[in-house]
Amino acid sequence: MNLLCFPVDGAGRYWPYIPNLSREGTHVPKLVLAYSGGLDTTTAIKWLTVEQGYDVIALNIDVGKSREQPVVESRGLAAGAVKVRVIDAREDFIRYFAFPALAAGAMYQDVYPLATALARPLLAKLLVDVAHEEGATAVAHGCTGKGNDQVRFDVGIMTLDPSLKIVAPTRENAMAREMQIEYLHKHGIDIPWGDKGPFSIDENIWGRSAEAGVLEDPWAEPPAEAYEWTRSVQDAPSQPEYVEISYEHGMPVSLNGEAMNPLAMVERLNDLGGKYGVGRIDHIEDRLVGIKSREIYEAPAATILHAAHRALESMTLSKQQIKLKKQIATEYSELIYNGLWFSAHHQDIAAYVASTQRHVSGTIRVRLQPGAAVVVARKADESLYDRGLATYDRGDTYDQSAAVGFINIWGLQTRTQARVQLLGELPRALKIAMPQEESR
Ligand code: ARG
Repeated sequence: MNLLCFPVDGAGRYWPYIPNLSREGTHVPKLVLAYSGGLDTTTAIKWLTVEQGYDVIALNIDVGKSREQPVVESRGLAAGAVKVRVIDAREDFIRYFAFPALAAGAMYQDVYPLATALARPLLAKLLVDVAHEEGATAVAHGCTGKGNDQVRFDVGIMTLDPSLKIVAPTRENAMAREMQIEYLHKHGIDIPWGDKGPFSIDENIWGRSAEAGVLEDPWAEPPAEAYEWTRSVQDAPSQPEYVEISYEHGMPVSLNGEAMNPLAMVERLNDLGGKYGVGRIDHIEDRLVGIKSREIYEAPAATILHAAHRALESMTLSKQQIKLKKQIATEYSELIYNGLWFSAHHQDIAAYVASTQRHVSGTIRVRLQPGAAVVVARKADESLYDRGLATYDRGDTYDQSAAVGFINIWGLQTRTQARVQLLGELPRALKIAMPQEESR
């Protein structure tokens, strides 16, 4: 009840309500949409404007391999965005997302270098930052309700700013492709969309993924069209090519002796590796939402850089460090995959990984050959590999006579157990190991 008897309407506004008639002051809520320039998000612009009453700011974030900027801008404006903003985030993506995951050795289910998964927290962060800059109260993305990406976006955004409303038009009203084109047409927007293409593609500079279509049959070999970045083994040059990658504290810093920024390095290795058909991955993957899905990845640079980094760690880390780091890498890959980038758990893991990388500096020589990147040589100033200890030739510094005492002590545990428990009464051992034997 309005005890002060102010005339207030149902929406809590002073009555009689007269809207601010100048455009500037009109209170149309602003929303920032992660905009790819594709059909889904173009339809989303119109839908959010017409059906939801937002002023839509379309934010196109370039994380590599995206559409031409003029195309994105004209499509966004044609669909009714009040503004299209384009941010080139490629360098930041490699530096703050892809390379730290590389140093950690993070590969989801041992095979997927996490290209899409790593880009999502960056996109979420930029959505939130731009929403703050623009005074927007809502953000939106074009994810469906079946994938991991919706989780990564939503969790990232709600963690960074819980006050922002999140809208997911594609998840809310899944429109078939034809319906989307029809919907835009109804609103006077006729963009030539071309053919749908046989797959659902997501790509950024760290990797490309293809899903759906014929790939949904796990017994079907991926057709040639599923691949875009890499040649087939048959089409790769038969003459191998060598690359030398140098790392400093786990970060790639130069290629063939030439200092290179992260972005240039990844682009170069994608080209080179792609030419040799390196980095094709065919995987049945476990999504966070409980679905198994067939994924075809291409990630030449990531594949080469991970192989070389692993080789460098085998020279510069102790076996205990390698063992624990592998477990941490699995944990880290799941955290990234499952959208928990902005978490204290991540901070802890990052601190551990950074600590492990302090001596991971050196150079790895990789031979690129059809379908494979093979580590053939390695060197590091702080290598733990000691040729004097390893050699079978002259100059051996290892004391072979000391091995006898060591083995005597090392074997104590199994000798003791065997004597007490295993070598005694034969029937008693069998009773436990093979109960069915006894009943015969
Ligand atoms: N399965 C991968 C992931 O969840 C890639 C998904 C990419 N999306 C796509 N429409 N191809 O990270």
